[in-house]
Amino acid sequence: MKKLLIMLILLFPVVILAQNYVGVDKCKTCHKKPDQGEQFGIWEKSKHAKAFETLKGEEAAKIAKEKGLTVAAYEAPECLKCHVTGYDAPADKKEDKFKAEDGVQCETCHGPGSEYKSKKVMQDRKAAIEKGMAAILVKDGSAEKQCITCHNSESPTHKEFKFAEMWEKIKHPVPAGK
Ligand code: HEC
Ligand code: HEC
Ligand code: HEC
Ligand code: HEC
Repeated sequence: MKKLLIMLILLFPVVILAQNYVGVDKCKTCHKKPDQGEQFGIWEKSKHAKAFETLKGEEAAKIAKEKGLTVAAYEAPECLKCHVTGYDAPADKKEDKFKAEDGVQCETCHGPGSEYKSKKVMQDRKAAIEKGMAAILVKDGSAEKQCITCHNSESPTHKEFKFAEMWEKIKHPVPAGK
């Protein structure tokens, strides 16, 4: 009994801590087919996929200069926190294939995927949420709340955020009947 208790205590933090960022290429393996809704292709064409690249451009350099940043925009925490996935997460929460250069990836919105990305878990929404998938939905407003953690006036280029219009540009549903 005592042994079991010690094991549970030791295991508990491991289970919690094991929710790591795996990177968009992992999600791509199952979410690229047209009959599943081609989520990867839709994301790849969106500006979220280019969010890191943007920090290497002229406009970003200009903003960084105006703000008096001492490092380039693409190295500045002040910019990276909204332009890449999981910026605040420690390095050991990002698996080897994870690339910050891929910008605002799936796991920004859906949560770190190491524990929920297996097919069996993915097909069961409740199980996926228990394993770290974010319980975001358009219909209950939770999705919009998440968008405005970045789409807000702290962004140097902020434009008024109109959820319905913006969601229309990036939505990626699983086709009905799937
Ligand atoms: C091994 C294959 C596989 C991998 C890898 C995978 N998924 Fe899935 N995912 C599925 C399947 C199957 C479903 C069920 C829906 C469907 O048929 O498309 C699903 C469903 C989902 C859903 C909807 C869940 C719900 O019930 O609301 C989200 C969100 C999702 N995946 C995100 C991701 C993200 C983000 C990643 C990468 C971290 C990922 N998936 C990796 C196979 C996978
Ligand atoms: C982690 C921060 C972050 C979150 C969360 C986020 N975005 Fe973004 N979004 C960005 C950044 C950064 C850009 C600009 C990328 C660029 O232009 O390089 C952007 C750009 C966009 C664009 C392109 C705008 C245009 O002018 O075409 C759309 C559409 C968009 N986001 C929709 C959404 C929606 C809808 C949500 C919530 C479901 C959301 N975003 C959540 C950071 C975020
Ligand atoms: C609070 C989140 C946030 C922060 C911090 C942030 N950005 Fe952004 N950035 C966004 C979002 C969201 C967009 C998409 C357009 C919008 O609403 O501003 C964006 C778009 C951009 C664009 C493209 C603008 C366009 O018109 O397409 C550039 C360039 C940019 N950001 C540079 C920077 C630089 C440089 C920094 C750091 C000094 C920075 N951003 C910090 C969220 C942020
Ligand atoms: C900017 C935030 C954001 C990004 C980035 C994002 N998603 Fe989503 N995704 C959402 C939201 C919000 C929903 C819930 C939609 C709803 O309520 O109908 C969703 C729904 C889904 C669904 C379920 C669709 C359905 O019809 O049930 C899948 C599968 C999915 N996303 C996979 C992905 C994959 C794979 C990526 C990366 C290639 C990705 N998402 C990138 C916000 C995002």
